[in-house]
Amino acid sequence: MQTYNIAVIAGDGIGPEVIGEGKRVLEQVAALDGSFRFVFTDFPWGCEYYLKTGEMMEADALEKLRAFDAIYLGAVGYPGVPDHVSLGDLLLKIRRGFDEYINLRPVKLLAGAPCPLAGVRRGDIDMVVVRENSEGEYANVGARLFPGTKEEVALQTGVFSRKGCERVMRYAYELAKREGRTLTSISKGNALGYSMVFWDAIFEELGHEYPEVETHKLLVDAASMFFVKDPARFEVVVTSNLFGDILTDLGAAIAGGMGLAAGANLNPEKKFPSMFEPIHGSAPDIAGKGLANPLAAIWSASQMLEFFGQEAWAKKVIAAIETLLTEKKTLTPDLGGKANTQEVGSAVCAVLPRV
Ligand code: NAI
Ligand code: MG
Repeated sequence: MQTYNIAVIAGDGIGPEVIGEGKRVLEQVAALDGSFRFVFTDFPWGCEYYLKTGEMMEADALEKLRAFDAIYLGAVGYPGVPDHVSLGDLLLKIRRGFDEYINLRPVKLLAGAPCPLAGVRRGDIDMVVVRENSEGEYANVGARLFPGTKEEVALQTGVFSRKGCERVMRYAYELAKREGRTLTSISKGNALGYSMVFWDAIFEELGHEYPEVETHKLLVDAASMFFVKDPARFEVVVTSNLFGDILTDLGAAIAGGMGLAAGANLNPEKKFPSMFEPIHGSAPDIAGKGLANPLAAIWSASQMLEFFGQEAWAKKVIAAIETLLTEKKTLTPDLGGKANTQEVGSAVCAVLPRV
């Protein structure tokens, strides 16, 4: 029997609540299939761990994680620990350390999901955002000069390498080619005359290798407007780390909200484990109350199944989510329901055998 070894970093706040349901759904999938199983290993890292030990994770965390087939992450961050510490010393350390250079975020309006846009039909919002995940504006290169003086200066440099740009764009071109979809590059060459002019040039260069892929180019400000006014124009989208971070929250907002938004951090070569997570944070305002919507975490479990080559099950998990959204009987309050986190997880498990 095939075994998938999963490292679980449930993290802080609602992280453990939603990841618990995602694990149950994966176990249900394995039980229904019968030809594979999941073995979960939990790691206690996160802000609570930091307050006890002074570190977000153990010093040899990456060595410990390295042998796993995937990492399943809840959320990290909590009042009392600065966000740049919790993010930088855990999430970003794993993304960089394991060369997870693709951040894949589906922005798809599922059947029955709420949409704040007027006049939008379900098929109009169906895109995949491929966000550069290893460099760009989040490379954390910079300096603070003359701290504490009137002359204080902060520098934050964007890092754009040919290798980094080519690999994320190639991934997006391949995806668009495979699925027969258009590819839109979102950048800002008019204002960022070095990094984004470079980005645009590489996008065009690579395009010669993919004559069958219809391409479009948009400036990030115009693209934000079109996400709202005309989301149907986007199919596969490729963009930089910062722009992708912002645009995918906008994407989440138009496609059902943060409780329905998932993201995968991929090392496509499978040299290192990839990491799957809901894109929401630890939501301290609702933590511990059973109010957290686990569907984003469950959607990211579906992305994990897809990455493992279990496409049929990946689709069935999405179909089960759509069943809940359409029936509107078992949903958390953010989606207008009265169910708690565990009831939603149980409902997905119950629906899975009949989708
Ligand atoms: P957040 O995503 O935690 O919460 C934003 C709003 O959405 C809150 O009102 C929250 O209640 C609601 N919300 C989020 N997820 C939900 C869910 N599954 N079901 C129902 N409602 C949900 O973002 P916020 O408040 O900006 O950040 C809180 C903490 O999380 C911070 O420490 C931040 O640094 C961290 N964070 C961590 C991330 C990660 O681990 N990947 C991503 C974003 C934030
Ligand atoms: Mg974000």
